[in-house]
Amino acid sequence: MRTIIEQGHTFEEWLTPEQIAKDVTELANRINADYAGREPLFVVVLNGAFIFAADLIRRVNLHCETTFIRVSSYWGMATTGKLEFIVPLQQVVEGRDVIIVEDIVDSGLTIHQLKAHLRAEGAQSVSVASMLFKPNKLEYNDAKPDYVGREITNEFVIGYGLDFDGFARNLDSIYKVKE
Ligand code: IMP
Repeated sequence: MRTIIEQGHTFEEWLTPEQIAKDVTELANRINADYAGREPLFVVVLNGAFIFAADLIRRVNLHCETTFIRVSSYWGMATTGKLEFIVPLQQVVEGRDVIIVEDIVDSGLTIHQLKAHLRAEGAQSVSVASMLFKPNKLEYNDAKPDYVGREITNEFVIGYGLDFDGFARNLDSIYKVKE
């Protein structure tokens, strides 16, 4: 079992690059089937989703567009409960089938607010693809992702785009904090 130290905490490898690749391929296949004949717009939530999005979208065989949005609701291991739009949406979403791409859904606050924003902007449909989902921590029911790589309990995870105070996004496996 590979372990690493980040910000003074020990983390254990939880998902290998091979396991992640399998999950991402399954997600992409489902999206390819569900959106056949449509032209979805992927809205990638920066920063955390950039690696997952790159892998997922390259496995999507649809005629599609991709844009980016950046929000912030986290600092360290605890949520502040407040969402801030740092890079706002620059694409017209009116009438579009939008697929939000997220690294992890925790309380669901980020997705809850983003969905409301996209609907207000006139999106025809909004679904969510998230590499990870913490169902026990969900506080907003409408934020349950439609496409999930893996469910996880309440542990803090890093790697594959997920950070700890900005670090560890570059790790190619996903690591869980050791209790
Ligand atoms: P939510 O709004 O509470 O669902 O939080 C979603 C955001 O919190 C994610 O996009 C991540 O940036 C961050 N986050 C939640 N859990 C973790 C974690 O275990 N590791 C790293 N970031 C996390």
